Amino acid sequence: MAAEKRLVILISGRGSNMEAIVRAQIPGATVAAVISNRPDAAGLRFAQQHGIATEVVDHKAFPTRDAFDKMLAERIDHYRPDLVVLAGFMRILGEAFVRRYEGRMMNIHPSLLPAFPGLHTHERAIAEGCRVHGATVHFVTPALDHGPIIIQAAVPVLPEDTPETLAARVLREEHRIYPQAIHWFVEGRISLTPEGRVVVAQARFPDTALHVPATTEREEAHV
Ligand code: GRF
Repeated sequence: MAAEKRLVILISGRGSNMEAIVRAQIPGATVAAVISNRPDAAGLRFAQQHGIATEVVDHKAFPTRDAFDKMLAERIDHYRPDLVVLAGFMRILGEAFVRRYEGRMMNIHPSLLPAFPGLHTHERAIAEGCRVHGATVHFVTPALDHGPIIIQAAVPVLPEDTPETLAARVLREEHRIYPQAIHWFVEGRISLTPEGRVVVAQARFPDTALHVPATTEREEAHV
């Protein structure tokens, strides 16, 4: 049997995506460590309770981004990961760090990239009057919230949504698509075209389109 693929998950806070990945018990994958840049990240506790090695590399303890990146890479490499998983990791990583893990580092971003890179994505989607919003798992490249898209999930934006209700709807999808993307990676089904687009071998796709009407009225569902 092939050796299990080793994941190192980086978090900064709540860690619900990390939790979803751990709970998914992805066949062929093992979570070797969870590393946080914040000592108070709530997710660390969940990892510890599940017998996963945890570490803190506190960015505040380093004089430069480069020094932080170097120590972070050292600690990651200690666990010999096949895949580095950014899951709510809120530090911008330098180019050398990103290149080191090229093709084996993923991130999840709470928008349908390339729309809304950066912060406050749910607020911005509402402010723009978007009818659909969602989340994207992508390979990490030096450009922030860019890089080959592996999987996306869309959700409707409802007239009564607040950033919080929309975030919660998106988060449920995040918890579904991140384990899926990792599973594809672990199964060796992800490749890149010469143009740098992701192809997933034998992925099944839903064949329904999501339509969200531009209305503030709610119709009764016809069943
Ligand atoms: C998620 O919405 C993720 O997409 C974004 O930050 C949030 C982290 O949530 N990058 P959690 O720490 O995984 O609960």
